[in-house]
Amino acid sequence: MNITFSKLSLPKSGPVVFGIRGKSRLCPSVTALDKASGGSVRRAIDVSHFKGEKNQMLDIIAPHGLKNDMILFVGLGNQSLSETELQDLGGFIYASIDKLKQQRATIVVDFGSDPTQAAAHVAYGAKLRSYTFSKYKTNRKKDSSKVKKLIIAVNGEAKARSEFNKLGKLAEGVFLCRDLVTEPPNILYPATFAAEVRKLKRLGVKVDILGEAAMRRLGMGALLGVGQGSRKQSQLAVMQWNGGLASQKPVAFIGKGVTFDTGGISLKPGAGMADMKWDMGGAGAVAGLIKALAGRKAKVNAVGILGLVENMPDGDAQRPGDVVTTMSGQTVEILNTDAEGRLVLADALWYCQKKFKPCLMIDLATLTGAILVALAKEYGGLFSNNDELSNQLISAGKGSGEKVWRMPLSEIGGHYDKMIDSKIADMKNIGGRYAGSTTAAQFLQRFVNGVPWAHLDIAGMAWAEKTTATVPEGGTGYGVRLLDRFVQDNFE
Ligand code: BES
Ligand code: MN
Ligand code: ZN
Repeated sequence: MNITFSKLSLPKSGPVVFGIRGKSRLCPSVTALDKASGGSVRRAIDVSHFKGEKNQMLDIIAPHGLKNDMILFVGLGNQSLSETELQDLGGFIYASIDKLKQQRATIVVDFGSDPTQAAAHVAYGAKLRSYTFSKYKTNRKKDSSKVKKLIIAVNGEAKARSEFNKLGKLAEGVFLCRDLVTEPPNILYPATFAAEVRKLKRLGVKVDILGEAAMRRLGMGALLGVGQGSRKQSQLAVMQWNGGLASQKPVAFIGKGVTFDTGGISLKPGAGMADMKWDMGGAGAVAGLIKALAGRKAKVNAVGILGLVENMPDGDAQRPGDVVTTMSGQTVEILNTDAEGRLVLADALWYCQKKFKPCLMIDLATLTGAILVALAKEYGGLFSNNDELSNQLISAGKGSGEKVWRMPLSEIGGHYDKMIDSKIADMKNIGGRYAGSTTAAQFLQRFVNGVPWAHLDIAGMAWAEKTTATVPEGGTGYGVRLLDRFVQDNFE
């Protein structure tokens, strides 16, 4: 979909969208429109159920006295709209235009405390909602009826356009994540994921890919153990975006990239197993974030590390009962091969500190089903050894609309930590029946060495069954907007 910005004026033809703040308070352009229609617009509003409530819609076909095919009114409610509410509004408008089978429309933005800002966020919300994944549909006719062009009419269109261009880079990062998450697992496996990461070089990102031999030399026994049963070679993808001062220590993002999780020898039940193609949602979010940061030339030094593996059963697969040695030197007794994400992250987190000495680390992982039990699909689970970092993430969550909720974590040696002590090794990879998301986080904490760190368990957030304002059902891209906001607020 093509989005352009133009001067504020009443388009003489085609569908046009206006915002209305409450029924009686018409924005200046609607008043002008009403005049041009000889009062028929006002009358249509009056006789309808339309009250101007937030995101309420009213469409008038072929309005009397006007050449426009269709007028669409959208309610703005009575309060002023936040950035995320403006984005939602854009998403709703897009969906209405799409539903009315219009291929192009003009949205008049003469509302908001700063209409240029409002226009950019409305356009961004529409763009986020317009995402589709149709490359495997051989008959794309259905998609050819989608909205092709949006014109945003606003006073100060140049400013709105430049603001939108920045948000557009962020949308590209979100879309990369959605694409990766949606790709089927026979197409997206560690090597092909790494190839997608290499494409970020075009944006000035430094990319290094480590194969199994390199990881073996580094002693990454935990990550390699997970990939042991797969015909596909495991990979560690390392991205660096250096947009900050050379003296600035990097902020590091680490993603779980299990391109398919069968559970391994602790095989998962068949029902719903296909969902495990998106067990690389954390890695997808980190790749999307780095793309967004590089795309908008963010003034920050950021590192992205992806642990890319496929968890398969096989004659040579890792067994429950195996003991592996991690890159840190600590040993792990594998009691369930389906608790694989923490094993991948353990080596990735350790490598990250050794190699980059980051000022802080944030990992993202579709790590536990238990986080869905606790939080459903409302919040990502946040576990952290640092209150300041936690608060920064909670606030970035509110600002971006990708919310997180802090969950309990013990210190090393504390109650929850003891739950992963093993009888024959330093630790085991499962903690028992209770507090499953916390014991997974405790496991990770044994590989962070006290560096300020946060773990985001996004098992509930990476995939959506239901469409919302700015997120169509399917891969959500969760984490990209959250962490871009976190970087903007705290590093730029
Ligand atoms: N990838 C899964 C977690 C998951 C579940 C993600 C549902 C998305 C939706 C993870 O590797 C896993 O299998 N976790 C186990 C851990 C258990 C064996 C300790 C789980 O949550 O059941
Ligand atoms: Mn698993
Ligand atoms: Zn998994």
